[in-house]
Amino acid sequence: MRTKITGTGMYVPDRVVTNDDLAQWMDTSDEWIQQRTGILERRWIGPDQQPADLAERACRQALDAAGLEPNDIDCILLGTLSSQADFPGTSFFLQHKLGLEDTPCMDVRAQCSGFLYMLQLADALIRAGTHRKMLVVGCEVHSTGLDISTRGRDVTVIFGDGSGAVVLEASEEEGDAPGILEVRIHSQGEHAKRLWVEAPGSGISPSRLTHEMIDDGRVFPHMEGRFVFKHAVTRMPEVLLETLDAASLKIEDVDLFLFHQANLRINEFVAGKLEIPEDKLFNNIMSYGNCSAAAIPMLLHETQANGMLTPGKLVSMTAFGAGFSWASAVARW
Ligand code: UT7
Repeated sequence: MRTKITGTGMYVPDRVVTNDDLAQWMDTSDEWIQQRTGILERRWIGPDQQPADLAERACRQALDAAGLEPNDIDCILLGTLSSQADFPGTSFFLQHKLGLEDTPCMDVRAQCSGFLYMLQLADALIRAGTHRKMLVVGCEVHSTGLDISTRGRDVTVIFGDGSGAVVLEASEEEGDAPGILEVRIHSQGEHAKRLWVEAPGSGISPSRLTHEMIDDGRVFPHMEGRFVFKHAVTRMPEVLLETLDAASLKIEDVDLFLFHQANLRINEFVAGKLEIPEDKLFNNIMSYGNCSAAAIPMLLHETQANGMLTPGKLVSMTAFGAGFSWASAVARW
């Protein structure tokens, strides 16, 4: 028994926010953002859009690609760090939008590594026979939680809104058949506060949210950018090699490398360190910014659509993010 990806989908809102747009609200520039991050523009939701709307569009596209209806799905996993409400998770709003009545769903909170964490979980559930058809979706709406003044510029310029989804199905095919080969995941809570949104949080008493916290900007993401960068360029190659090794594969065997889209410089650095040729790497951060848990399924969808990911190809996916959390997976398409 193995787990096969049978459909992909993605959705980003129509509203394009360029670097020049951001420069109207804060002290930044197109030149700084492009040089430091590689980002040209990102998408932000429109006035009436919510996370579950984005997720629904991505899921319906993935279901169509797999030739399935929502009712065929046994379980939904949704990765996000920007949940639609404090509780319940976005997955419950999504499940209702898909017209489902009692299909189980849950949110997974592993930030930018969330999609790969879910892939490991879903693979285990499918191999164990617990579920046969699963939807795994990453969905982020960062734009409503960003500090758009100069105070928040280091974080605000990198994030974008978007959603990506895959359908996973049990497969009995053997040998070199398509499927997830290995997934490895790691975390280091020691650095939880190096990239976090503190409030509202039940760790703050007697009240998780006060006017003062809002005024002090504790409701916005805070990041020690250089520290995060240094850890990302160390952990990503480490876990990528660990995962390939577990699958008895080498860098040269892989046809396509997909890295989390937090900063183009991080990805160039990792590719350089591992001597990955440029034509085996695909990035889309230029157009969408950092969509956290949605980034990898969005890459899967785009590379399938542009013909880079065709049957038989080996694809390696690697992410690093808040927590800290990092993970890698390798699959045959
Ligand atoms: O997705 C989760 C994982 N996240 C990441 O992997 C992000 C990792 N970190 C990064 O990508 C980078 O650290 C950033 C892109 C966030 C920042 O780039 P940096 O080269 O590390 O800049 P820095 O934070 O060290 O700041 C350098 C200078 C500072 O000014 P001074 O002190 O040298 O005068 C900042 O105040 O750049 C300034 N700065 C900005 N200037 C214009 C910071 N943000 C901006 C900005 N526009 N948006």
